Amino acid sequence: MVVMVDAVAQEPKPRKHSGATVTDMAAGLWLAVAIAGQVAFAAYLIGFYAFPAILGDIAAWNVNVVLSQPPVHPDRPQATLAFGVHAIGAAALALMGGLQLIPMVRNRFRTFHRWNGRAFLLLIVALTVSGYYLTWFRGSPPNSFNEFGTSVNGLLILAFAAMIVTAAMRRRVAQHERWAVRLFLVANAQWFVRIGGFGYFVTMQTLGYSVPFDGAFFQFWIWGSFLVPLAMAELYFRTRSANSAVVRWSSALAIFIVTPMTLIGIVTFSLFTIQLMAGNVQAG
Ligand code: HEM
Repeated sequence: MVVMVDAVAQEPKPRKHSGATVTDMAAGLWLAVAIAGQVAFAAYLIGFYAFPAILGDIAAWNVNVVLSQPPVHPDRPQATLAFGVHAIGAAALALMGGLQLIPMVRNRFRTFHRWNGRAFLLLIVALTVSGYYLTWFRGSPPNSFNEFGTSVNGLLILAFAAMIVTAAMRRRVAQHERWAVRLFLVANAQWFVRIGGFGYFVTMQTLGYSVPFDGAFFQFWIWGSFLVPLAMAELYFRTRSANSAVVRWSSALAIFIVTPMTLIGIVTFSLFTIQLMAGNVQAG
């Protein structure tokens, strides 16, 4: 795998259709916003989970009352360890993933791109395995359609990671890049869950609508958190080189509209995590 990934990185890139510019600009802007949001997410995960672990105060994790159950189980150290590895690993993942998609990093720092890519793939498998443990063995296993959503997300993560490696081994550069974008999106579903949920909740509250946390949007978003970003990515792939200017501009417009929505989610979720870390979030 190592040799093949190197071979892919050295292969010349296919020539880009000139019409791709506007859609690429929209996608680039979205990616810049998303990477900023991921840095904020990583800061929360490091501040809330990694620092207390280093200071030997993991009981502080249980302040997070929005989780389905307290992360720290004094009588079940394996459950606590699995959660800790999962949450702190997610911080590293949030910092590593976006870097793989930045063209300048990919082209100028190829050695970094290769090693970061390999570490990203290993980390993602560790996060998926620990995620399955948390979902299926820590408490009651899923028993409704929506409760299976995250597990299906995990299957997609593993499948897309395999597709990236396969495309690399076959030296299919364009396919490799597309699977990398798809993996980035499904690997960040838990981030989309949070920014989408908070963005929607705060926007509706601001507009004067009261929304319950188990309402229709939140149920939909368990699946939407990875299916909607994947649909947007397909729109981008299929339209960026379209001959019709209307198609290219419509697709760019859709991505431009999603960008401020992403930003609202990032800001509202970040404000929540700041309050959480300050100890100002109470149960109920
Ligand atoms: C690979 C990408 C993944 C990332 C980046 C990720 C990220 C996270 C983070 C950051 C948390 C901590 C919660 C918080 O403070 O908000 C968490 C919790 C959790 N994750 Fe993941 N996760 C991933 C994959 C998965 C998968 C595939 C599953 C299931 C198969 C899963 C199941 C869980 C569960 C059950 C929790 C505890 C949530 C709760 O108790 O409410 N995760 N995840």
